[in-house]
Amino acid sequence: MNRFNVKCILVTGCAGFIGSNFVRQFKKEFPKAAIVGIDDLSTGRKEEIDKSVKFYKGSILDTKLLDRIFAKHKPEYVFHFAALPRVSYSVEYPVETSEANIVGTIALLNASQKYGVKRFIYSSSSSVYGGAKQLPTKEKDNEPNPRSPYAVQKYIGEPFCKVFSDLYGLDTACLRYFNVYGPGQYGDSAYSTVVSAWLESLYFPKNKKAFIEGDGKQSRDFCYVDNVVLANMFAMKSSKKLNGEVFNVAHGERTTVNQVKKLIEKYSGKKISLEKRAPRKGDVKHTHADISKIKRMLGYKPVVNFEEGLVRTIKWFEERIKKQ
Ligand SMILES: NC(=O)c1ccc[n+]([C@@H]2O[C@H](COP(=O)([O-])OP(=O)(O)OC[C@H]3O[C@@H](n4cnc5c(N)ncnc54)[C@H](O)[C@@H]3O)[C@@H](O)[C@H]2O)c1
Repeated sequence: MNRFNVKCILVTGCAGFIGSNFVRQFKKEFPKAAIVGIDDLSTGRKEEIDKSVKFYKGSILDTKLLDRIFAKHKPEYVFHFAALPRVSYSVEYPVETSEANIVGTIALLNASQKYGVKRFIYSSSSSVYGGAKQLPTKEKDNEPNPRSPYAVQKYIGEPFCKVFSDLYGLDTACLRYFNVYGPGQYGDSAYSTVVSAWLESLYFPKNKKAFIEGDGKQSRDFCYVDNVVLANMFAMKSSKKLNGEVFNVAHGERTTVNQVKKLIEKYSGKKISLEKRAPRKGDVKHTHADISKIKRMLGYKPVVNFEEGLVRTIKWFEERIKKQ
């Protein structure tokens, strides 16, 4: 029996990788709650949206549509996953991505305060650190240093959350995700991690050619998508006022790219052949989050470790092959 009571939530970006995973798991824990979703399907896939979602196809920039959705459904919690989340795309299209990622977030914050939402949970990104000085990286000792339009856009959402908490009393929480991977992340998108990019090349060689940049000793704090979902659930359930508080969301351990290759080969039984490329300019060598703050304040603990997450992701790729 779940003692936390929730009647209705709004999930933006419900057709995307993290949003669609979130919906499926939220439904398992709260089968009676209504889930309203909005997505313009610019990158998301309609078939990923759970049938139980009351789905609106449209943009978070459409304030009339937002008014209609909020007035009709009165969501108590808003989980804001919608974004154009690609660094290279944001470099090419700084105006369009700023609209979706900054103005879209403000439009949602505004509707949330107007319609009395209990808490707004914002998907931020570890890219705001722009190569942290300290590893493992703590929120407070590492000033944001965004290095791409995408990272600036994600960062700006954080002080906006804080301002809406201060000005209107709308409670908000900002979750900085590190290198998320898992089922539902297609490897042919520019934003995919090496995990999905390499699995795509193994299972769907026509879609993707696998490559490695540099010596493979670079490491990442790979975070399985269920851990991100869980962090959002904890952020919703917290009895504290969060008022724009920022939290790292990660596994809290790092894995080198060379180790990823070995483990993929071990669990898939296939050999990956990689084209060697020069290290990417400006790429950070390591990411590694300090997750003590979210553990302490929200009770978060990652539930799926890297190897287990990898096995589940491989299974999803194998199922995709069967469906073809
Ligand atoms: N995947 C990661 O590793 C990662 C890491 C850090 C932060 N994030 C953040 O997490 C969130 C979810 O990421 P994801 O990997 O699921 O991305 P995704 O691209 O799979 O999902 C984003 C969804 O938003 C939708 N969308 C885009 N613009 C929209 C608009 N104007 N109106 C309505 N819908 C719109 C897209 O169609 C898509 O379905 C994003 O905010 C992203 O910045 C992701």
